Amino acid sequence: MPDLITHTKQDESRQGEAYAPFVNDPVSYGKKFYIESYGCAMNFSDSEIVASILQENGFGATRNYAEADLILINTCSIREKAEQTVRKRLNDLRTIKEDKPGALIGVLGCMAERLKSKLLEEEKLVDLVVGPDAYRTLPGLIEEANDGQKAVNVLLSREETYADISPVRLNSNGINAFVSIMRGCNNMCSFCVVPFTRGRERSRDADSIVKECQDLFNQGFREVTLLGQNVDSYYWNTGVNGEIVVTFAQLLERVAQVSPLLRVRFSTSHPKDITDDVLHTMARYENICKYIHLPVQSGSTRILQLMNRTYTREWYLAKVDRIKAIMPDCSLSSDIIAGFCTETEEDHQDTLSIMEYSGYDYSYMFFYSERPGTLAARRYQDDIPEDVKKRRLDEIINMQRKLSHESNLKDLGKTFKVLIEGDSKKSDADWMGRTSQYKVVVFPKAGHALNKGDYAMVTIDDCTGGTLLGKIVQ
Ligand code: 5AD
Ligand code: SF4
Repeated sequence: MPDLITHTKQDESRQGEAYAPFVNDPVSYGKKFYIESYGCAMNFSDSEIVASILQENGFGATRNYAEADLILINTCSIREKAEQTVRKRLNDLRTIKEDKPGALIGVLGCMAERLKSKLLEEEKLVDLVVGPDAYRTLPGLIEEANDGQKAVNVLLSREETYADISPVRLNSNGINAFVSIMRGCNNMCSFCVVPFTRGRERSRDADSIVKECQDLFNQGFREVTLLGQNVDSYYWNTGVNGEIVVTFAQLLERVAQVSPLLRVRFSTSHPKDITDDVLHTMARYENICKYIHLPVQSGSTRILQLMNRTYTREWYLAKVDRIKAIMPDCSLSSDIIAGFCTETEEDHQDTLSIMEYSGYDYSYMFFYSERPGTLAARRYQDDIPEDVKKRRLDEIINMQRKLSHESNLKDLGKTFKVLIEGDSKKSDADWMGRTSQYKVVVFPKAGHALNKGDYAMVTIDDCTGGTLLGKIVQ
């Protein structure tokens, strides 16, 4: 899942970006925790579950790590650089231990799962190592660590979905929220560490998802992003005999029915799994956003095969055609990897041309980083020199710049329904919001009594970089 969010996928392109939660006020808690998250939206969403578990157990959140009794880093393993960023951060935190020897430092998430107790040995300052399916055991592990034991739980589960836990919204603008609908991944993309760090795929109880979305709406939230590594394989059986089945298309519909004022997004879709049923459901509901994150990874059928993506270039292109046929106004984004094992110049040209054909509005672009234990690491040689990977990545980024600019130019003169998310970064005389297609729009507040969370009809008259500029129409 990409830079999830501010740009969802989020996720991934937000590697290294950290955040701390709000301060709980005025409730007083015995102890304080501080949490920083790296990686995908799923990780940010998990931190909200961790915050909930900790609050239930007498820990209040703080934004200031220096005053925390418990410092948690929720980590990502997707590329080597993501892990390096966390190691550097752990080193920086060393000083805290000197000033406050009683404070505990814990590593959560994908790096905890991948490296397990090695983290305790390598990073001498780590007291807790907790994998993505073990957060319910945090209170016990904290006690163990307080008693001076090295506390580790990296057991993966086939059932855990944290369905009953109400996430504590961290750093929230009160408008957009992530809602996790499934965990784990059963695809075995050869480059990817996720099946090893997050385990088998399992779906969350549909009723608990709809209830969470309804509660968010009642609290004033106006947009939910349904999260999963592969949302199209969402599948929920209820009843002892599994008689009622909820597919992803049906779940989307149920969430869309919470209120026409609640926007619904989702991430991430796998090109092999997204169905016509999902596309028609999107088309039927105005409040299901016309935006699909559909990672292609490569435009070459030969490379796609080595990546074990299970579709060809032609299959992908047919999906793009289908989406545009059912929803001509739907925007598309992608994840792209440059320089996968054995990639030739011709394969690379295929990637550039598939980007152009698909007309992506955004992409999250990376060069290949071999991850220990993955199929690719075991089967293929990481044989593309770094300078070639970087040059190809630059060409991919330049192509995306051109496509994003062209896409913005096409929006000039059009009118969009924009959900207001808050003041624009540059001026509180302007609002910032997004279109259904996920484009950022900035427009003057002047003369209109609107608030965060309201919708405005805005005509676009200009654009700068990634932002559309416009004016409210009556
Ligand atoms: N190297 C580079 N990029 C990767 N991704 C996943 N694994 C790797 C890797 N080993 C990218 C994919 C995926 C996104 C989340 O991260 O494009 O869709
Ligand atoms: Fe998210 Fe873990 Fe994958 Fe990083 S490695 S993108 S945190 S699932």
